[in-house]
Amino acid sequence: MAPRPRRPLVSGNWKMNLDHFAAIANVQRLVFRLQPADYRALDVSVHPPFTDLRSVQVLLGNDEPPLALGAQHCHFADAGAFTGEVSPSMLAKLGIAYVICGHSERRQLFGETDEGVAARAAAVLRNRMVPIVCVGETAEERDAGATDARLAEQVEGSLAGLSAEEVRTLVIAYEPVWAIGTGRSATPDDAEAGAARIRSVLAERWGSEVARAVRIQYGGSVTPSNAASLLAQPDVDGALVGGASLDADAFADIVAAARGVYEAS
Ligand code: PGA
Repeated sequence: MAPRPRRPLVSGNWKMNLDHFAAIANVQRLVFRLQPADYRALDVSVHPPFTDLRSVQVLLGNDEPPLALGAQHCHFADAGAFTGEVSPSMLAKLGIAYVICGHSERRQLFGETDEGVAARAAAVLRNRMVPIVCVGETAEERDAGATDARLAEQVEGSLAGLSAEEVRTLVIAYEPVWAIGTGRSATPDDAEAGAARIRSVLAERWGSEVARAVRIQYGGSVTPSNAASLLAQPDVDGALVGGASLDADAFADIVAAARGVYEAS
């Protein structure tokens, strides 16, 4: 089997869970559970709420272990009169490596648009962090046979204005909305179809070399028991994990399952 063309990334999106005391306990347990072989095989990031970031940054210290710190959202301006918002330059100062942009909960509950996601992704890149841009169809869109069109629209819209050089460095998370927090994960075939569709849109717009470089995660009810089959798909380069990442042992088991897949390929 040919070696995998992209280094996988498994990310834990804690959403609005775990205060900074609980965050420290969770990350301490995770650091204890993750093995050097995990870090050799793939990248791992955790995305706690804003109020936890400084505590987790201090806990992680310098580069050992190489567990990356991520955020869940940011504003697109570096500073200004935006009450309640957090800027990308503030996150960069905290050693944040990845910022989730346009999660479906932000799109559905907070009015986030493709245009806003594109502005955020550009701001994250400008501050030398990596955006994890989320896209995915709703159950209604899927039932109407509109999945491919929706994914194309979201990828084009959420990356509008980015150069090929910028696009090749970012991460896209394919998260079918019907699979998020429902316990009903996509099948491996569904995950592969969505990821492959996203890659073909990238190839049409930014060229096949860029499309080959972009890491595409699958997200939606990933657990230790389904992770291996989802991540074994050729266009799936890791996972964005919500609920299961709140439990350090479950998240470490997902990372171990991912490592097993990537070591075997
Ligand atoms: P879930 O969430 O794993 O709880 O389904 C995934 C996500 O929203 O990123």
